[in-house]
Amino acid sequence: MKNIKGSIALVTGGSRGIGPHIARFLAKEGVNIALTARTKKALDETIDSLAPFNIEAKAFPADLTDAVSRTTLLENIKNHFGPIDILINNAGMEWVCAYSDMSPEQIKTMIQTNMIAPMLLARMVIPQMVNQKKGHIVTMSSLGGKKGSPYSATYAGTKAGLIQWTSGIRQELKGSGVSASVICPGFVSESGMFAVYEKKAPKITGETTTEKVAQAVIRAIKKDIQEIIVNPGLIWPMVMLDAIDPGIMCWVLRKFGVYDFYRKQAEENQSREETL
Ligand SMILES: NC(=O)c1ccc[n+]([C@@H]2O[C@H](COP(=O)([O-])OP(=O)(O)OC[C@H]3O[C@@H](n4cnc5c(N)ncnc54)[C@H](OP(=O)(O)O)[C@@H]3O)[C@@H](O)[C@H]2O)c1
Repeated sequence: MKNIKGSIALVTGGSRGIGPHIARFLAKEGVNIALTARTKKALDETIDSLAPFNIEAKAFPADLTDAVSRTTLLENIKNHFGPIDILINNAGMEWVCAYSDMSPEQIKTMIQTNMIAPMLLARMVIPQMVNQKKGHIVTMSSLGGKKGSPYSATYAGTKAGLIQWTSGIRQELKGSGVSASVICPGFVSESGMFAVYEKKAPKITGETTTEKVAQAVIRAIKKDIQEIIVNPGLIWPMVMLDAIDPGIMCWVLRKFGVYDFYRKQAEENQSREETL
């Protein structure tokens, strides 16, 4: 979609972290915003921050893991704005801990939030986008989806799934006027699920910013790019090495402290839970 001015975007995960930044970057491009997450008060604050951009913006609180909630969300947006042109599947969750310490319910909730909700939201909007011969779906994966890390295995599984799912639907939609992109940010500083830990990322990956992630979302839509990794440093050589020999890549990541980083965070999370 080269020209996005005046279109309607649904941005999920709009209450905190990266989502509000994506909403503001889209609003700056003249895109009208339907914003969702579960926390109404925080959604309203993001909506207030869109006031200078002279676009229409409205919050639609919803729990994306709930099927009825998803249907109501899309109906309410349709009634208020009309058909959605851009879906930004940004909402997600992560919990760094040993895999065996996750309950089956926690595993299911993570898969529902990170993978099933974005896939089903897309399933609900694609037919109407194809009808209007216009639409773009941007889904937020992660560097974790390119290479699974210990203590973040379920998260990595969901994010890897989104990369291949995007690749599949993108090819299926070729020629329809509708397209799909996936964004893979590394550790994002300033705000979001990594920033709350108040840690420095391992040197080998470094950190990126909310601004760079939001810019990548706009670029993916306007230039119709399949996949964008948003991270400083030597990521592409590492991705290539992983494709050739995943075992060697694990050795490199272990050697450069990435796995220690996750182990320490898991230990910290566990002791925090024990004191609650
Ligand atoms: N931050 C990073 O370093 C980083 C790196 C790579 C990829 N990512 C990805 O970027 C995306 C945004 O991450 P973030 O850092 O902004 O995370 P965050 O600060 O934890 O925010 C997550 C957002 O998702 C919403 N959400 C969570 N569960 C939901 C549910 N069941 N229903 C509706 N909304 C729900 C939250 O809102 P409510 O709690 O109000 O519902 C919140 O707005 C995620 O997909 C994440 O995996 C982040």
